Amino acid sequence: MACLMQRFAVHRPFEGLAIAACLHVTAETAMMVRLLRAGGAAVSLAASNPLSTQDDIAAALAVRYGTAVFARAGVDRRGYYRHIERALGAGPDLVIDDGGDLVNTLHTRAAALLPAVRGGCESTATGVLRLRRMAAEGALAFPVIAADDTAAKRLVEGTCGTGQSVIDGILRATNTLLAGKAMVVAGFGASGRGVAERARGLGAQVIVTEVDPVRALDASLRGFRVLPMAQAAPLGEVFVTATGSCDVIGAEHIAAMRDGAILANAGHFDVEIDVRALENLAVAVHTGVRPHVDAYDLGDGRTVLLLAEGRVVNLVAAEGHPPEVMDLAFGIEALALAWLAAAVSPEAGGKLPVGVHEVPADIDAEAARLVLAAAGTSIDSLTPGQQAYLDSWRIGSLSGARNLAAAGTACSPTLWAGIPMGGPPVVAAGGRVSSSHATIPIGYTK
Ligand SMILES: NC(=O)c1ccc[n+]([C@@H]2O[C@H](COP(=O)([O-])OP(=O)(O)OC[C@H]3O[C@@H](n4cnc5c(N)ncnc54)[C@H](O)[C@@H]3O)[C@@H](O)[C@H]2O)c1
Repeated sequence: MACLMQRFAVHRPFEGLAIAACLHVTAETAMMVRLLRAGGAAVSLAASNPLSTQDDIAAALAVRYGTAVFARAGVDRRGYYRHIERALGAGPDLVIDDGGDLVNTLHTRAAALLPAVRGGCESTATGVLRLRRMAAEGALAFPVIAADDTAAKRLVEGTCGTGQSVIDGILRATNTLLAGKAMVVAGFGASGRGVAERARGLGAQVIVTEVDPVRALDASLRGFRVLPMAQAAPLGEVFVTATGSCDVIGAEHIAAMRDGAILANAGHFDVEIDVRALENLAVAVHTGVRPHVDAYDLGDGRTVLLLAEGRVVNLVAAEGHPPEVMDLAFGIEALALAWLAAAVSPEAGGKLPVGVHEVPADIDAEAARLVLAAAGTSIDSLTPGQQAYLDSWRIGSLSGARNLAAAGTACSPTLWAGIPMGGPPVVAAGGRVSSSHATIPIGYTK
């Protein structure tokens, strides 16, 4: 982040642009806002989840960093949307969203502002899904980058960040011992896999539920037990939903659960656990038995515990992703937005087509490289010979070395490990190749 801050301060990729963002109002987001401002943007910010808002951070951003912040912890539904509308204010040039509510509001309740919007960025899987639907129906009015869909972000944020922080949220809320417990994880995407792997690391017996056969196979081959939710419900002691879908845990599942079952959601919206069904099944609800824990008495001696009212448990009961994770995630997003700002600028003379776009692969790599460098980790890079080999379609299985040499690319003998080359081939006048040993066909090392 610090490195990007310096770079943006020099290049000012957002000079004169207004950016409206709808993000979790946390310390990590504050750094993102400061980065955008360093790049020349005027930023307005609304919260993407009322329960994750840190009021002190909102105040600091407003007072110290000149940001128009519209967020307050625990605000109700009406207030939540009013804040988004106010963050849209007089009209942004660019938008950043986390879940799609800002883009949705822009297209439905603030459509007059749409012509000025050049493009945007979406941070999470659920938002990307909604945007793709909008684009497919021709309802999306500007180009958006799917910042969630990069290999580095999905690995670090989904698997490491969500995995660790969801477990953190469950432990802070309940102080339960996971070792030996049966934990059911619904969804084996980037987030669910992270939760499942971290829980297994703590000694839980993890059961995975899925609807995608490939993801289910993945879970099975990694040693997890895979079951439908109907079969997992009576077995589980802790349940985590991470699907992006709705009603993943419904009345029929809750009715089959063990006494003391703990229900937590990691998905973006509070629709994965059917909380209304839980309320209907309960004869009494004891709210706040611990912070972020409500106990639902089912009237037959069983009690089910719901964490964080069914909202994202890692953001409500813990602190969300650790800063290192958000450094990478926001780094990718900021670089992608800078790329988009340049691509849609009037000076560039053209607009990106309306639709959902991937993050350019070199941005993903650049962000990963910066994070590694910040940690003092360096990696190898391809030699010119290796690059030439990977780039060439002419090199066949039987004549690789000759062709490579004939193409004039000196290649280290170590590249051909196990092959007695006797030294780099020499290209003589007329393109003939000689070597101190006979050329050995590539791929045959006996
Ligand atoms: N809490 C966080 O900090 C955090 C971080 C990243 C993503 N998310 C959210 O978590 C959710 C999942 O994200 P992801 O990146 O893992 O998405 P993903 O699309 O990679 O994975 C979701 C998985 O759930 C499966 N699934 C869908 N419906 C299901 C059902 N009814 N039962 C069982 N499995 C089902 C899908 O087949 C898929 O494999 C999204 O809502 C995303 O926005 C939350």
